[in-house]
Amino acid sequence: MTAVGIDAIEIRSGKLKLDLPGTFAPQKGDDPEKYTKGLGLTNSSFPDVYEDIVTMGANAAKRLMDRKGLTPDDVGRIDVATESAFDHSKPVSTYIAGCLEGVYDDDFTHANKGERKFACVAGTQAVDDAYNWIRAGRNRGRSALVIATDTALYARGDPGEATQGAGAVAMLIDADPDLVELSIHQGYGSKDETDFLKPNQQFPSVDGKRSMQVYLSRMREALEDYESVSGKIYLDDFAYAPFHTPFPGMVRKAALLAYRHVIRDTTHEDELAGEIGRQPREDEYADREAYEEAIRGYMDELKTTDQYRTWYDDAVEPTLGLAREVGNWYTGSVHIARVSALRNALERDREFVGDTLLVASYGSGAQAEIHAETVREGWREEIGALDVDEQLAARYDLSWDEYEDVHDVHEYDKDLDREVEAFTPPDSEFVFTGWGRMNERQYEYVE
Ligand code: CAA
Repeated sequence: MTAVGIDAIEIRSGKLKLDLPGTFAPQKGDDPEKYTKGLGLTNSSFPDVYEDIVTMGANAAKRLMDRKGLTPDDVGRIDVATESAFDHSKPVSTYIAGCLEGVYDDDFTHANKGERKFACVAGTQAVDDAYNWIRAGRNRGRSALVIATDTALYARGDPGEATQGAGAVAMLIDADPDLVELSIHQGYGSKDETDFLKPNQQFPSVDGKRSMQVYLSRMREALEDYESVSGKIYLDDFAYAPFHTPFPGMVRKAALLAYRHVIRDTTHEDELAGEIGRQPREDEYADREAYEEAIRGYMDELKTTDQYRTWYDDAVEPTLGLAREVGNWYTGSVHIARVSALRNALERDREFVGDTLLVASYGSGAQAEIHAETVREGWREEIGALDVDEQLAARYDLSWDEYEDVHDVHEYDKDLDREVEAFTPPDSEFVFTGWGRMNERQYEYVE
């Protein structure tokens, strides 16, 4: 069977940044280590005044198409995943296609366009849709463009404000891909939850602590569901485990749970038994409460063991590199975790073709999905071509007052009584230029 997967990937960060320990923490009266060590974040990316989900998505897509030598005729499908859409009817993919048609000779008239919604897991769902379309043989030799783009803003003063971010990931999905092949097997954990939602409002209503519990529960279900089709997962099966990363501290919790699950009834559990005992089994306890307390004690010890730390440093920590620098990109978040892992493999000059990633996506509301990806021959060239380091280094460092201005500019319903100047000059990119007669957002390409 022909391999189908991600052929190429491009990242576009918002062009501004907020320094969390240096600028945010002092304003909130917090210890900077709450951000660097607790949440695990150093900076958040923000969009400049002329950037939004369309410009970031279109700029990522254009760079991807140019690098791969594609024209619109090569792309049969454009799906956008976002939780930041500003239009309830016209999909963001049409705005992005319109931008791209302004700079290429041919057009996307033939392309099926849509928008995927299920909080942060929608990016992975859009990749699935493209995969299925290609597998079904409906693509007429064309590839699919999937764009995960978000401005992950929270109301000012919300605890989530510390985890904001803005950026886009464009992915080309194709047969015989250069980067990774997607597994047929998938596992799901999905339930109706009221933990994080935006009922006709721009900024989310969030029950932060509950959202973390829901994340962990759905992930566990997805892992069990994945194993029910793939067979038991072993620790050594995977080189990296990229997770959806709302903030790295969340992944620290998920990784510990996953590790406990995966080593159960293996030699790894036996090796640890002398040091911290075997994992508590429910049937050994009088009631659920006693069992849960025993589990908590086991986990506290497990996370301090050399075995766990070595695995975490090897398989999980490297997936967090970009997230620490940019914050939460919602639909794009798990996709930058994958890129972080591949960048780590490149830095380590790892022999990596044929190795596997276990990719764990999550969306509030709530659903987790787990699948495997196998690294392909072209991975070095694809990952080496990214310019994300240059983008991050070039970001404008906002002062607190400037951050408040930028937040106001991007709040759709806010009537600003003043003009906020751009902080960076546009340079060979799509920019937002204002509203049209039907209240549509308008864009142009600036040389
Ligand atoms: N030094 C070191 N660590 C410190 C510290 C210090 N001085 N001060 C605090 N910390 C630690 C805390 O102990 C805590 O870590 P643990 O959970 O491991 O104990 C961590 O820093 C965060 O501190 P708080 O829990 O006090 O932080 P908070 O209450 O202000 O906010 C939050 C945390 C609830 C996650 C909030 O940021 C939030 O609401 N975020 C948005 C929701 C979210 O991201 N949920 C994640 C799951 S949902 C999801 O994944 C979907 C999505 O993308 C939104």
